[in-house]
Amino acid sequence: MGVFLGYTMMVVLWLASFIMVNHLCVVYSSPDKWLVRGYAHDHHSLIRKLQEYKSYFFQRQRVSLASSLSPSPSPSSPARSSSGMILVTTYGADPTGKTDSTDAILEAISDAVSIDTDEYLMQGISNVGGVQINLEGGIYKISRHIKLPEAGLGNIVIFGGTLKASDNFSTDSYMIDLSSSSNRDYSYEFVTLRDLMLDCNFRGGGIRASKTLRTSIDNCYIAHFGTTGILVQGGHETYIRNSFLGQNITAGADPGERNFTGTGIDLQGNDNAVTDVVIFSAAVGIMISGQANMITGVHCYNKAYGFGGTGIYLKVPGITQTRIVNSYFDFTGIVAEDPVQLHVSDCFFLGDAFIVLKSLRGVVDGINIVNNMFSGSNKGIDIVQLDQTSKEFNEIGDQVVIDQNSANGMNMKATAAKVVTQVNGTSWTIDFNKILLFPRRIKFAQHTLMTNTSNSFPNTILRNISNNQVMIESDTMVIGSALVSVDQGFTMLG
Ligand SMILES: *[C@@H]1O[C@H](CO)[C@@H](O)[C@H](O)[C@H]1NC(C)=O
Ligand SMILES: *[C@@H]1O[C@H](CO)[C@@H](O)[C@H](O)[C@H]1NC(C)=O
Ligand SMILES: *[C@@H]1O[C@H](CO)[C@@H](O)[C@H](O)[C@H]1NC(C)=O
Ligand SMILES: *[C@@H]1O[C@H](CO)[C@@H](O)[C@H](O)[C@H]1NC(C)=O
Ligand SMILES: *[C@@H]1O[C@H](CO)[C@@H](O)[C@H](O)[C@H]1NC(C)=O
Ligand SMILES: *[C@@H]1O[C@H](CO)[C@@H](O)[C@H](O)[C@H]1NC(C)=O
Repeated sequence: MGVFLGYTMMVVLWLASFIMVNHLCVVYSSPDKWLVRGYAHDHHSLIRKLQEYKSYFFQRQRVSLASSLSPSPSPSSPARSSSGMILVTTYGADPTGKTDSTDAILEAISDAVSIDTDEYLMQGISNVGGVQINLEGGIYKISRHIKLPEAGLGNIVIFGGTLKASDNFSTDSYMIDLSSSSNRDYSYEFVTLRDLMLDCNFRGGGIRASKTLRTSIDNCYIAHFGTTGILVQGGHETYIRNSFLGQNITAGADPGERNFTGTGIDLQGNDNAVTDVVIFSAAVGIMISGQANMITGVHCYNKAYGFGGTGIYLKVPGITQTRIVNSYFDFTGIVAEDPVQLHVSDCFFLGDAFIVLKSLRGVVDGINIVNNMFSGSNKGIDIVQLDQTSKEFNEIGDQVVIDQNSANGMNMKATAAKVVTQVNGTSWTIDFNKILLFPRRIKFAQHTLMTNTSNSFPNTILRNISNNQVMIESDTMVIGSALVSVDQGFTMLG
């Protein structure tokens, strides 16, 4: 009780100083309704309100003079605007998920962002100050997408609760939709969606960020999407971090895995990052059709390759410019169409997972697939494979490096190789086809002979390197061993 009285007094003091200093109490329509209910029930809400008061005081003045002079809102209107923290239940959202909360949440958001501000982020993007729309740990049913009321807004946080799509939620909508029909370059800037669970109820998608700048999606759990978990269209710098996406809630080896559909994350834009994210069910984990995206620490076990799934699909032929590092491909791999500038390193491929370079126009260049671990079950599966069903790779650049990987229970494939072989005769041929990725392509070969036959100094010559076979001839009989290294790329000086 002492604690309660303490809080009450602090609130009263805050309120008193607030009235005295600011003459702005009009915006807090009925503060006493926050204080009257029982201690046990309302302890947390009281603290929350207290924090609101505090954050009000320590915040930049958010309400313009004009609005402070405006007449008192009706007593029934929710405690709005002046606080940077908006509680959706204040607007009638139902945190038990029983009744539809779409309108209430939309109203809360609309209220949250409708402040009078002269501050801007990018030109034309109003800085609404970092207003926080708090879902208060509730589960809210929504039947339409949650959108910001207009384009040109920035510095907004939506956090802390669950949204669940209702049975009539449109299958072509996204639950949180950061898009607008305006034709400006960027619709929103610096919107943060964090600590959210989105249950799409097998209807539409989770989040859409269309022409947005600097969007954070952090610690979100997006499940039961019928289409796509997160769709990024245009814009720049959507950072997806520490999140979990899955169509079906499973922890692997799901009996329905064959039937998983949808895409975890679809990046149709440039300069985004996906960092420390798990995609645990979906036909495609991440689909990428923009450049300069960075994938780090992603764990894909969305749908096994054997069932038709893909971990990361790179649909950026000719200008891939994608880095995938420190990631974990769990029974599902990477497919890259005509890759030009692709870096895959420090990844772990488990369960016979592999990388496919898929030819559309036969172009491949600027590849680094290095320092990865591959583990399989001795089924003779190559760690890197070429899909030349539509066309053979015939424009292979000289900067294709697939090397320094480790393969356990799978076939090593590389663009460079070293072999030591026994020699007894005047000519010998070493076949590199088992290890070299591209057929009929050795650009560089080097060899050394080792023999302990005394007074033997044979002259040797490289006769033929076609068909990935190195043939060496000697002018005298050699008994010893040959050390040969080859590379499918080379660098021309000058
Ligand atoms: C969806 O259902 C809710 C009630 O659950 C109703 O209010 C809403 O109008 C419906 N929407 C559509 C598009 O049918
Ligand atoms: C997968 O889908 C097929 C046909 O679409 C269906 O017969 C089967 O029962 C489904 N399996 C599971 C586990 O849902
Ligand atoms: C999704 O999971 C549920 C159980 O959680 C299961 O009944 C259903 O068959 C699964 N669907 C698919 C497509 O795997
Ligand atoms: C080299 O080849 C000859 C003839 O084929 C054979 O007699 C000899 O044992 C071989 N020497 C070695 C060291 O293998
Ligand atoms: C020379 O090498 C052969 C094997 O290639 C070995 O059997 C033999 O002992 C070696 N001779 C000397 C003198 O080292
Ligand atoms: C190199 O070897 C291939 C068979 O492996 C042959 O067809 C080709 O004519 C050879 N080239 C030369 C220059 O001997």
